[in-house]
Amino acid sequence: MEEYKKLLETAIESRKLSYSPYSHFAVGAALLCSDGTVYTGCNIENAAYSPSICAERVAIFKALSENRRDFKAIAIAGGKSGEDFDGLCPPCGVCRQVLQEFCSPSDFEVILGSSGDNMKVLRLSEIFPFAFMPESIKKQTE
Ligand code: THU
Repeated sequence: MEEYKKLLETAIESRKLSYSPYSHFAVGAALLCSDGTVYTGCNIENAAYSPSICAERVAIFKALSENRRDFKAIAIAGGKSGEDFDGLCPPCGVCRQVLQEFCSPSDFEVILGSSGDNMKVLRLSEIFPFAFMPESIKKQTE
């Protein structure tokens, strides 16, 4: 649990780098690999809106582009821009789909929170049941 509290603190720190002038909703993420390496991300918006990207995908794409595949957990911290936020920020559907492409749904943990005292830990399979998996496409096309 201490490891997850630290990971959440890293996500909260990464949130400060959010570029979100359109939604005014700032998100930070910290992705933990099995050897303890952490990849961070923040949401980055765009004036054309659709090129915007969530904090979680920034973190996982950074890791994937450095040849990492061994993911254990991700901490996510998000709320209205500014210093104070106290709600939980569950990952959007697109980020859930990207995570389950590379993370074991039954083992990978998603940590949501705004502080060590307000933290929720969920398995990816709990928040993304009956997903379209890499195996789904193989079965359909065999
Ligand atoms: N956002 C994230 O970065 N992660 C989430 O899990 C939910 C939403 C971003 C996208 C957009 O920049 C802003 O938050 C408002 O939706």
